[in-house]
Amino acid sequence: MLASVKNILEEAKANGYAVGAFNVFNMEEAQAVVRAAVKKHNPVIIQITEKTMNYAGDGVIYDVVKNVVEKESASIPIGFHLDHGHSFDVVMRAIGAGMSSVMIDASEHSLRENMAITKRVVDFAHAKNVAVQAEIGKVPYLGGMDPNPDWDKIMTNPLDAKWLVEETGVDALAVAIGNAHDFFRERPEPDWARLEEIHKLIPNTPLILHGASDWVNHKVTEAVKRGVVCFNVDTDLRVAFNTVLCQFTHDKCTIIDPRTVMAEARDAVQRVVEKKIEMFRNP
Ligand code: G3H
Ligand code: 13P
Ligand code: ZN
Repeated sequence: MLASVKNILEEAKANGYAVGAFNVFNMEEAQAVVRAAVKKHNPVIIQITEKTMNYAGDGVIYDVVKNVVEKESASIPIGFHLDHGHSFDVVMRAIGAGMSSVMIDASEHSLRENMAITKRVVDFAHAKNVAVQAEIGKVPYLGGMDPNPDWDKIMTNPLDAKWLVEETGVDALAVAIGNAHDFFRERPEPDWARLEEIHKLIPNTPLILHGASDWVNHKVTEAVKRGVVCFNVDTDLRVAFNTVLCQFTHDKCTIIDPRTVMAEARDAVQRVVEKKIEMFRNP
């Protein structure tokens, strides 16, 4: 069933486990995530981005995910969230389409601007009963930044995190502790002391770890101990999906029914999500 992201995060926090937030871009990926959640009897969050809204159409992708969840998830709680809304306007589009949980990622701006944009979003969103995640510090992407960043400069400052949460009233916070998106080389070891300090200063705020595709058990365990309740995964799903597509176009190109290809890609994504769910569930 479609469930509140805020409740899913709070439930995980109260019970000492974490959930996965999985990016999807079409029906097959949405089904893969829902089917994995149902098979594992575990809540998950499905998320879409601005690029996916542009690709599919805001209302189309919203309805596709909502329908898949309603038809296939039975009583398993599935949250639905806008990931990395980079502007007030994008967040408005998502809320307009029906989303009840959004991220405003104004982390590329100065701290003061980030606070102001985030506060504007929170005021608008909370009036409509929509939950908000913000980001402070930077979780880098390939192509977007120097591949060898000065991590101390881009990681979350714990006192700033506390200030942002208190001033804006956000419901969840994405932290930068040396984690990175896609194939960007992460800091050799996450800054555990920094995460601990953030958690100590804002113990009631669910912390979100972006760029978790390459996170393995011991890192997950350490992060959950220090307040992380949700791991964002996109790249590993893309790789699973595309590996199947590539295999078909190379080795099995006599098959002309695209449903054969898409069904295998869907199954491959489901298998990845199942493994992630298990890892996050038992940190
Ligand atoms: O961090 C978010 C995604 O991995 C980037 O997704 O290409 O849909 O913007 P996007
Ligand atoms: P990865 O693509 O590195 O898994 O990161 C996903 C993410 O952070 C989505 O917000
Ligand atoms: Zn992210």
